[in-house]
Amino acid sequence: MTLPDRAATPALLQVDAIVSRLTGRPALAEVCRFLRHAFAHYPWVGIYRVEGSDLVLDAWDGAQATEHTRIPIARGICGQAVRERRSVVVDDVRSDPNYLACFLETRAEIVVPIVHNGAIVGEIDIDGNSVRTFDDSDRRFLEKVAAKLGAAVERSGAELPVG
Ligand code: SME
Repeated sequence: MTLPDRAATPALLQVDAIVSRLTGRPALAEVCRFLRHAFAHYPWVGIYRVEGSDLVLDAWDGAQATEHTRIPIARGICGQAVRERRSVVVDDVRSDPNYLACFLETRAEIVVPIVHNGAIVGEIDIDGNSVRTFDDSDRRFLEKVAAKLGAAVERSGAELPVG
């Protein structure tokens, strides 16, 4: 699916508005909610935070909760994005041996690292419901969103209680 600049540009302004109004986990939750509702091809949006050798789900929006609230960096497409320090786009999850299944309807996935002060502190994870849901325009857009979220993810890790 193509995400044209005329949709990406106002969405990035909206993310700016969210992170100027909210901090930490509430900011992450609002960004998940906004992305899911702004883009019909983003039916499940989550943000994981790096905690030691794991990824911990800090915020999400979608029809169902995932069982994968803590994922070792050694595993999954989520872990792969951190290990390889890059965005990962999977056209068809059924042909990717790294894929950790969450939802029956998921057919594609995109994971984009969130970098803060040079370190990966978290990632945006979006599941799509058709093969090849995500293309380069989604990747470019979500990398810009991720660039705005580093401080909020760091703050989220400092908030208690965690869970
Ligand atoms: N599919 C991911 C696990 C997280 S769920 O998509 C929410 C993976 O393979 O790492």
